[in-house]
Amino acid sequence: MIENNLSSASITSNLGTHFVGRRVIYYPSLTSTMEVAKQEAQLGAVEGTVVIADEQTAGKGRIKRAWLSPKGSIALSVILYPSVADLPSLIMLASLAVMHAIEAVTGLRSQIKWPNDVLINGKKVCGILIETSVRGSIVDYAIIGIGVNVNLRVSDFPEILSIATSLSDELGRDVSRLRVIQRLLVEMERLYLTLQAGGSIYEEWRDSLVTLGRRVRVKSGNTVYEGVAESVAGDGSLLLRHPNGNLSKIVAGDATLRG
Ligand code: BTN
Repeated sequence: MIENNLSSASITSNLGTHFVGRRVIYYPSLTSTMEVAKQEAQLGAVEGTVVIADEQTAGKGRIKRAWLSPKGSIALSVILYPSVADLPSLIMLASLAVMHAIEAVTGLRSQIKWPNDVLINGKKVCGILIETSVRGSIVDYAIIGIGVNVNLRVSDFPEILSIATSLSDELGRDVSRLRVIQRLLVEMERLYLTLQAGGSIYEEWRDSLVTLGRRVRVKSGNTVYEGVAESVAGDGSLLLRHPNGNLSKIVAGDATLRG
């Protein structure tokens, strides 16, 4: 039986983590989990606090885009207090955790499109938004926002139909959101602890990128780059080879795969 309702207690019980998801703030409906997570972080919420909503009415995407999160999807934000050195690795941590959780619960294989979209069969199943407050070398907080299309028929949403998929569309059956959430939190903690112990998650992230070796168009601020995605640096930036042989290092942007 697939659960329809989430609750703080159902998520925290038998979770098996030390801090990620030990405190869960659940809302049936919310504008955006990012907003509440930010308020909580500013009040000094315990590290690993999760803000989760069954649906968001004003979900936030990257580059000021809207993010659709109807009932049936997962919309959550996790509050962390990483070192400034670990900040670039958070995009790797989040996308790898999602990839692992999806495979563990559903058996579906996914890939990452630089920097941190998770795709199944070339279509986006998850978006990740990271917001930080940093002063010099002090990180006040980092909030990792994750939206996963779990039990929704993408055909009900014409605006995303051509670019998105969901776990239920891929499998032809519904999936337990609770299991995906719990596994996601476990994976996030594991990868975060790996970073804190001085380990690297870069190689696995790099090897999971569908982007490398492909012709891409990358929009970064007002600049558009076109070329071949050659590699990624340890800080997560993309190294793009232009047709004239020049190399650009792109720290942040939105990539479209070509050809
Ligand atoms: C993107 O691909 O543009 C990023 C989407 C991030 C969506 C998640 S859903 C949970 C959290 N709350 C939000 O309002 N946004 C993030």
